[in-house]
Amino acid sequence: MADILQELETRRAAARAGGGERRVAAQHAKGKLTARERVELLLDDGSFEEFDLFVAHRAVDFGMAADRPAGDGVVTGWGTINGRMVYVFSQDFTVFGGSLSETHAQKICKIMDMAIQNGAPVIGINDSGGARIQEGVASLAGYAEVFQRNVLASGVVPQISLIMGPCAGGAVYSPAMTDFIFMVKDSSCMFVTGPDVVKTVTNEQVTAEELGGASTHTRRSSVADGAYENDVEALAETRRLFDFLPLHNRQKAPVRPFFDAPDRVEMSLDTLIPANPNQPYDMKELILKIADESDFFEIQKDFAGNIVTGFLRIEGQTVGVVANQPMVLAGCLDIDSSRKAARFVRFCDAFEVPILTLVDVPGFLPGVAQEYGGVIKHGAKLLFAYGEATVPKVTVITRKAYGGAYDVMSSKHLRGDFNYAWPTAEIAVMGAKGAVEILYRSELGDGQKIAARVKDYEARFANPFVAAERGFIDEVIMPHSTRRRVARAFASLRGKRQENPWKKHDNIPL
Ligand code: HXC
Repeated sequence: MADILQELETRRAAARAGGGERRVAAQHAKGKLTARERVELLLDDGSFEEFDLFVAHRAVDFGMAADRPAGDGVVTGWGTINGRMVYVFSQDFTVFGGSLSETHAQKICKIMDMAIQNGAPVIGINDSGGARIQEGVASLAGYAEVFQRNVLASGVVPQISLIMGPCAGGAVYSPAMTDFIFMVKDSSCMFVTGPDVVKTVTNEQVTAEELGGASTHTRRSSVADGAYENDVEALAETRRLFDFLPLHNRQKAPVRPFFDAPDRVEMSLDTLIPANPNQPYDMKELILKIADESDFFEIQKDFAGNIVTGFLRIEGQTVGVVANQPMVLAGCLDIDSSRKAARFVRFCDAFEVPILTLVDVPGFLPGVAQEYGGVIKHGAKLLFAYGEATVPKVTVITRKAYGGAYDVMSSKHLRGDFNYAWPTAEIAVMGAKGAVEILYRSELGDGQKIAARVKDYEARFANPFVAAERGFIDEVIMPHSTRRRVARAFASLRGKRQENPWKKHDNIPL
């Protein structure tokens, strides 16, 4: 009996050793943790339950029959993060370069199926040379099986991808369909075709880092939602994000203990808006002053800075915030910011996360590049996302809310539940100067007359009261009381039930 028990331990130890000491040392030398070290850091101590430790591939070509390591290059199972369940897979680069075989894919599919069935998120740690070259089409089939599950899981359980090494070719499309992608600076890359193929086809010369490193994907392409210095930081931040999220689409996000009075007054907010309407201010200051303990998890921090998206808590409850940022492009909406915010709003709505919208928007960014790039369709994404969202929606207009952008930013007309404005709000078709230049074109030569017209327009429209008279603004609130008003609004909406007409699915302008 003792022998049998010992054999299990021996087999387990061999499986856990992955590709062996030499390859583990090579992994560490690149500044990367191993697949198992990553799982250990991601999950609560001792919570990991592994599946399929002994699964081995069935390939025979290219001498593969003689090399069948237990586990087949991916560690899979479930565990907890701060006590809440999560399914995990972590590709082991030390075994066949973490490449995906038929059986490797089956292991991933097994935990994805369980996650969908049992209602818990999936976190995938990607570190792989792609399709297992020795297996050919069986590997491609394996990828497609994973892709199909990514699609089915979308909107059912949150899916998070960590890119902690190479992720290339069609393999990128699994992370691409998940809700959030985080990368590690200098040790991860994602591209559909690598630098060599790019050189051959287009004669462009780029390094892997330039083509698909963390900086490229967080600043330029917006494929990734965040970049971290190393594996440890990426895993710790993933745990932090996880705490904001519900386990699945039929459950709300957890309520955390909070040590910050919901009625906290912030007198400094009364002077946040500068006297000069063209002077910017930092909208993040308002976000941090509304949030419990100023705890804010920003999504896509380095992309489209003219809109800020992320999670905070109010009275311990998760809220998704979307805020125009006057510090960048005066807070205009454009192609990038519309896409960024639309995807975030849809995530929140899919997972019952209430949405707080902070508005200071002078309109859509004008320009040939914007029009040629399809700002009409991209702007419509955000409009559509807000319009279809049935979660509690609270909006605060701090300053400008001009034109179509006023409508888009979770206005009353898109079923905003609470639409507040600060006394400094200007809700109008456009700014006073622009309006007067159109209305009184014939008087443009007369500076005095025009100045009087601008003053008159400002007095009539550059305020929140015209909209408030119509009930488009529910109340004009003091800036210092914003946290209290927003907290009470969300508290009153906890029982909100709203349904859209039956449909198979909508046709958002993609
Ligand atoms: C089998 C692979 C492998 C693969 C790497 N290895 N990629 N084995 N299939 N795809 C093995 C290597 O043979 C090596 O084994 C070990 O993993 C480590 O690889 P190295 O090359 O030594 O590591 P490194 O120098 O760090 O380079 C990493 C790499 C490179 C950039 C990922 O290995 C590479 O270019 N691999 C091939 C990538 C590729 O073309 N994949 C197919 C893409 S197409 P030993 O035994 O020496 O340790 C694709 C399509 C997906 O993925 C389609 C989905 C629809």
